[in-house]
Amino acid sequence: MSAHPFDLLTVDQLRHNGSLKWTEYRDSLGAWVAEMDFGTAPGVIAAAQETLANGLIGYAPTQLVHDMQQATAGWLDNRFAWKIDPEQVRPLNSVATALDAAIMHFSPRHRPDAPLVLLTPAYMPFIAAASRFGRDSIQVSMLATDTGWEIEWSALRQALSGGALLVLVNPHNPIGKVYTGTELLRIAALVEATGSRVFADEVHSPLVFDGATHIPYATVSPAAAAHSITAVAATKAFNLPGLKCAQLILTNNLDRALWSKVGEIPEHGAANVGLAATTAAYRTGTGWLDSVISYLDGSRMLLAEIIGEHLPQVRYTPPQGTYLAWLDVSRLVLEPGPAQFFLKEAQVALINGSSCGSGGSGYVRLNFATPRPVLGGMIHRMGAAVDGCDNKDASDPEFAL
Ligand SMILES: Cc1ncc(COP(=O)(O)O)c(C=O)c1O
Repeated sequence: MSAHPFDLLTVDQLRHNGSLKWTEYRDSLGAWVAEMDFGTAPGVIAAAQETLANGLIGYAPTQLVHDMQQATAGWLDNRFAWKIDPEQVRPLNSVATALDAAIMHFSPRHRPDAPLVLLTPAYMPFIAAASRFGRDSIQVSMLATDTGWEIEWSALRQALSGGALLVLVNPHNPIGKVYTGTELLRIAALVEATGSRVFADEVHSPLVFDGATHIPYATVSPAAAAHSITAVAATKAFNLPGLKCAQLILTNNLDRALWSKVGEIPEHGAANVGLAATTAAYRTGTGWLDSVISYLDGSRMLLAEIIGEHLPQVRYTPPQGTYLAWLDVSRLVLEPGPAQFFLKEAQVALINGSSCGSGGSGYVRLNFATPRPVLGGMIHRMGAAVDGCDNKDASDPEFAL
């Protein structure tokens, strides 16, 4: 069987290309920040180049914004059967900015200083988001069960009581869970009952594997559409977070009216190249994306095999979505912490689970959007470090880097 083109990418090439993931820890293999090693769709590159070639380096032309709004609405309809008016799509520079906007403007109206509720472990920067606005945050730990991750419903009800802004990341970084329609409806009922609101971060929604289906939160009921603000972006699936374009989807008319007064400056943050790249990704990138998902699907399963072989003490359940693996390393003694241990002893750069809030310690997050031989090399090195062996050069030719 001939090798997949992604398998042929080498660490030297990746480091030479100079991405953050491959240059921050120069002596280590990069499995930390959420970037993929596979470039992006050809149509995206062409659109970005055309934007520059046409000299569109001034402020965002209205047409570029309109195209992005239309393309986003078309994408959401085609991919998730979510029908919206393109005017509901608002440009921003990033999903992180969308959360800031939600905290500032879209908290429950009766409680503008409401706490942020996070289902943890959570995407690391969201842990500190509330405090930047002088707001409290409440962490509700997800439960790991034999059949997957579950919400602790009584804890969620308690956290939302009095009204809160629930941050619902679906698919859930870092645990890779894709919420079911039943779960989303149950969340919506709790949110309604408590007068809360939802910030639905669906940036990973295109990256879902067979066996799970992404359901946009705002589609589960009219009430959910009215009490939520959604953020999407082409940035994770098409690997272009540096181009600075995300989309806020406003499904509540009062929110839209408010945003028309306060949204001008944040909307200014979307970059022309990002707008054009997003339009191209949504309109022309499906074939490329599906081939990436198929590669990632193979890798998430391969990871289970090689972890079983080289790191048998580590527990791993392949994620339903995202390219992030959440590894339970709690059976190992890894001092001073798991990510520090693997960085120093295995030269593999990971994210410490403890930076993801409650329920995160004893875990590391590993980004498997990397060539499979490199992924094999990472796990081989980690296993060797745990065994205390000095064979981190991956003598197994399958894992030669
Ligand atoms: C769940 C989630 N939300 C937000 C972000 C950040 O997105 P942005 O770069 O658009 O702020 C990430 C990045 O990995 C993420 O995983």
